[in-house]
Amino acid sequence: MEKFDGPAISVAGLRVIRGKNLVIPDLSLEVPRGALVGLLGPSGSGKSTLMRSIVGSQIIAGGDITVLGLPGGTAPLRHRVGYVTQAPSVYMDLSARENLRYFASLVNAPKTDPQRVLDTVGLADCADRPVTTLSGGQLTRVSLAVALVGKPEVLILDEPTVGLDPILRRNLWAMFRRLAKEGATLMVSSHVMDEATRCDRLLIMRGGGILFDGTLSELLKQTKAKDADDAFLALADAADAREAAA
Ligand SMILES: Nc1ncnc2c1ncn2[C@@H]1O[C@H](COP(=O)(O)OP(=O)(O)O)[C@@H](O)[C@H]1O
Ligand SMILES: [Mg+2]
Repeated sequence: MEKFDGPAISVAGLRVIRGKNLVIPDLSLEVPRGALVGLLGPSGSGKSTLMRSIVGSQIIAGGDITVLGLPGGTAPLRHRVGYVTQAPSVYMDLSARENLRYFASLVNAPKTDPQRVLDTVGLADCADRPVTTLSGGQLTRVSLAVALVGKPEVLILDEPTVGLDPILRRNLWAMFRRLAKEGATLMVSSHVMDEATRCDRLLIMRGGGILFDGTLSELLKQTKAKDADDAFLALADAADAREAAA
């Protein structure tokens, strides 16, 4: 495979209309390779729409999206990008292992991949029970395991830690960190600003636009806030003031 040195994800002038709503008017961003990036913002700010656009499951009204140097959502990227939606999308009547075997066969992943990803997400113990019998946190990890099959270089994870207990959340972030260390690029969304502390970089969304792009320490310095929650409020107030003045 050709070596590519540019950003893992590059979005320029993205415009998305859903139903009758202009959900993303004009959004641009870049995600460097090997980064663990938090896509943070309140519900309805457009996080899922942006992620869908990046993986190619959203019709876009304009703009350019490049992933690993290739046009977003195209066939050559299918095995190189893993995507986990907010709602689990696995076969409920199968076990985790059976799900993983099935998805591994779809992408021609090595025969050892189901066991490898089960170990990665810590599901080896309940791998052979029907997925319906698993807890919410276990189910989330099955979805994640599916996305890890075939070792994708880019992972787009939509609110993977929502509704999980603090220990599971910490373990998942530790796993994301490990994957980034191994060279993967991760974009992880959350509406919990606090998760900013786990990320290398932050993209903060509001109203279909990017309010902030940088590190947490840059964010705290810029807003003079004590934590990410306060910083978001400061950013939102500043944006409102700019709009009122315009
Ligand atoms: N099918 C749809 N038709 C019209 N509006 C939609 C549709 N889906 C999402 N939206 C709107 O798009 C905006 C962004 O939604 P979404 O990307 O899901 O935000 P988030 O993931 O940050 O919660 C919201 O205002 C939402 O109401
Ligand atoms: Mg969402």
